Amino acid sequence: MLERLELENVGPAPDMVLELQGRLNLITGDNGLGKSFLLDAAWWALTRRWPRDLNPRLTSGHAARPTDIARPAKLRFALTTDAGNSRSFESKYSAQDESWTGQPGRPWSPGLVIHAHADGGFSVWDPARNYWRKKGNIDVQDRLPGYVFSPEEVWTGLIAPVQDKRTKVCKGLLDDWSSWIRENGENARRMAEVVGTLTVGDEPCQVGPILRLSVDDAQDIPSIKTEYSDAVPIVLASSAVRRITGLAYMLVWSWSEHVRAATQLGVKVAGQVILLFDEIDAHLHPRWQRAIIPAILRVMDHLTDRNTGVQLIAATHSPLVLASVEPHFDEDRDRLFHLEMRNGRVHLDVVPWAPQGDALNWLVSDVFGLRQARSVEAERAIEAAQAFMLGDARHSPEQLEERNAIHRELERVLAGHDPFWPRWIVWAERQDSGA
Ligand SMILES: Nc1ncnc2c1ncn2[C@@H]1O[C@H](COP(=O)(O)OP(=O)(O)O)[C@@H](O)[C@H]1O
Ligand SMILES: [Mg+2]
Repeated sequence: MLERLELENVGPAPDMVLELQGRLNLITGDNGLGKSFLLDAAWWALTRRWPRDLNPRLTSGHAARPTDIARPAKLRFALTTDAGNSRSFESKYSAQDESWTGQPGRPWSPGLVIHAHADGGFSVWDPARNYWRKKGNIDVQDRLPGYVFSPEEVWTGLIAPVQDKRTKVCKGLLDDWSSWIRENGENARRMAEVVGTLTVGDEPCQVGPILRLSVDDAQDIPSIKTEYSDAVPIVLASSAVRRITGLAYMLVWSWSEHVRAATQLGVKVAGQVILLFDEIDAHLHPRWQRAIIPAILRVMDHLTDRNTGVQLIAATHSPLVLASVEPHFDEDRDRLFHLEMRNGRVHLDVVPWAPQGDALNWLVSDVFGLRQARSVEAERAIEAAQAFMLGDARHSPEQLEERNAIHRELERVLAGHDPFWPRWIVWAERQDSGA
């Protein structure tokens, strides 16, 4: 697992320290404060490559660039290896080489690392397949340094150079899943289970027949039965279903290929899986946002054997995701982080765990920092009404300084059952009766 990540003169803040917990780590914060960047830096610490250096078709995962090129830039990290040893390393940026200094020899194996990018791409580092090979007592890095998939390649397969030959290193979701369904073996069962667990609702998605999009197109396409329709070809399914099946496929593919490779090479199957997940709520209906994290933890538990440690590091913008982890959150294993702009610089804080009860309360907590979970207009009208009741309309907008105008605006922008109405009406009645 990744224990610590420290950044100096790189990224959105002059320095940042991320001290992680062993199971669930959630990162929140406004757009542009560095959530995705932290996940890319975490991937680099675990695998020592930047995702985009391995696949330029990825839209994110660029190598970290120093903020001030004239000053030293450093990336430090500490991890527990798959064998259970603590290791730490400090890498400095070499401006001349435009790269980060590495340590000679084999990288430490942190276990299986899977990075779900915000755009639907994935990066996978497999300790059996992406590990240095050893020739005599020399370390030769002649295996692929990692599998980095653009969103398209998750579906259609990944071609990468292996010893200078263009090689199909992954067949992709469409072909693999179709073959798995035909073979009707372990992976078909795993895929069905993972998709079923991740798509909750009154009726979880089920696997349908294999279809073709047109008579002229020989591509087999798995289909999915949803609550709303029978057998939708997976390429035509909603972006939520595609996001979930992409994730399910990457989890099943990475784990089953890892176990197969480890067996073939005579090495130990990983005892740790680290999942980096950017915008874990992306494309998901609130019903699914509410289920995604508990479902991923359950899926990993079933997929791997029960002794496998799973560390999840995820960025989210969803108050429902936070509400959904409340019953599961364990301060000894889980942590909530928040990126915030204060005094002109970005700070990364650990948020003391305090359940908020529901998504609305999370929205108005410091983690999301909204004053109200209403429209901007409703917030403005209520604030003007509150100021008016206190006899202090100094800061109210000009057109909302007068009681009738405020009342008309409240009528325009608030729902009839808004909980603010009783306060306003009782106050107005008291005023009118001279109480
Ligand atoms: N490769 C990089 N090297 C250095 N800084 C980066 C890099 N990528 C992103 N950043 C920094 O992070 C900021 C964007 O953060 P990002 O991770 O996209 O935010 P979020 O995911 O929270 O919306 C940029 O403004 C920049 O300061
Ligand atoms: Mg981002």
